[in-house]
Amino acid sequence: MLVTDEIVVIEGDGIGSEVVPAAVEVLETVGEFDINRAVAGDVVKAETGTALPDETRDAVGAADATLFGAVGKSAADVVLPLRATVGSYVNVRPVRAYPGVDALRPDTDIVFLRENTEGVYSGHETRLSDDMSTLTRVVTTSASERLGEYACKYASARETDGFHIVHKANVMRETDGRFLEAVSGVAADHGVSTETVLMDAFGTQVCLDPSQYDVVACPNLAGDVLSDVAAGLVGGLGLLPSANIGAENGLFEPVHGSAPDIAGEGTANPAAAILSIAMLLEFLGYERDGQIVRDAVQATLAEGPQTPDLGGEATTDEFATAVVSRLWSPPVPEICETGEASILRLDSWVKHAGSCRVMKHFETRVSRSCMNRNQAANSVPVATTTLYRILRSRLDARVSGILVADCDAGWVVK
Ligand code: NAI
Ligand code: MG
Repeated sequence: MLVTDEIVVIEGDGIGSEVVPAAVEVLETVGEFDINRAVAGDVVKAETGTALPDETRDAVGAADATLFGAVGKSAADVVLPLRATVGSYVNVRPVRAYPGVDALRPDTDIVFLRENTEGVYSGHETRLSDDMSTLTRVVTTSASERLGEYACKYASARETDGFHIVHKANVMRETDGRFLEAVSGVAADHGVSTETVLMDAFGTQVCLDPSQYDVVACPNLAGDVLSDVAAGLVGGLGLLPSANIGAENGLFEPVHGSAPDIAGEGTANPAAAILSIAMLLEFLGYERDGQIVRDAVQATLAEGPQTPDLGGEATTDEFATAVVSRLWSPPVPEICETGEASILRLDSWVKHAGSCRVMKHFETRVSRSCMNRNQAANSVPVATTTLYRILRSRLDARVSGILVADCDAGWVVK
């Protein structure tokens, strides 16, 4: 199926160039997208003098969504401008403990909604003297209300009672006072209940009893720090995806950085990047496919293989392959015995595809492969052999071929 959504992919530095290809493999299994590659980060800066080339910024601005890996020292020169380029006003960071992962607090399931445009990340820093530097913290009613609106919608979609507002208005009376008033005011207008919690107290409480929190709205820096604290409760940064949501564009990225300590080893956990793909699919309106990707990651984390950060021995690629093999869980197709092989009949089975992009895509691949079925067996198109491999891993080793819908002859894959 041809899809017109245009997605920019930026690998970045360090493990960005390891986890992003793994996530793209998942994306390309889910459907055909118009994927446009762009560059940013330390390596580009060393080569060209700029960490964020104009072409990259333009491509991100013109796309429907962007998958971004991570960059190194140039993070502030790349990530903040890219978030602004997509017009993002909220950074969504789900932090969940997954079954099968050794988590400090298995009862963690929190979504941080972080204000994404202002606070202390507005870039207003001044060196006043050799001894003194200052930072201007910007908080506007309009940006805080926009976050509040999003939090109300998010909480009701998640069918939760309301949300928590994290702040430090007892000290930063003017700025966080404004934030608190604006966010709670919007919630009251929508009839959504809120509870407030001081950000330092939240740091303790989230460790002692994370189950008391569900959706948490935060000022920019607090959301950044507290979501990383919560990452420690669920098994580390390799598991945390994020979405920078704008009105018509979005930037999706793992929360982690370029991890120079493990870069080049091929063992980085790609779960955060793949879960970012799930968020990207949902943003583009493919909710069911996003859920399929999330379920496949969850099953892989539970059943293995796991990467070294979680105590396993799998490489980045092995984890991604395991996720891809779990993307599809259709009903068991009919197996018909022929003289020389057991053949999977896909006739009725592909009808199950419905509106699901993952299955439609496989259906398209199978049909296309089918049209070329006069090719020699050893040149069976990759898509078909991939499909076959997946089917066999899901079903039964004795199956040795597939019969494609509306075809009178089937593949016998050697
Ligand atoms: P980091 O997130 O890169 O790494 C922190 C620790 O977590 C390291 O021990 C690392 O090995 C581990 N880790 C992170 N992601 C992992 C994964 N997917 N699988 C397994 N282990 C993983 O943070 P750090 O070390 O503070 O920063 C390194 C560089 O990344 C810095 O130059 C920083 O500026 C940059 N950075 C970039 C970000 C971005 O591009 N959005 C965000 C955070 C940091
Ligand atoms: Mg951070």
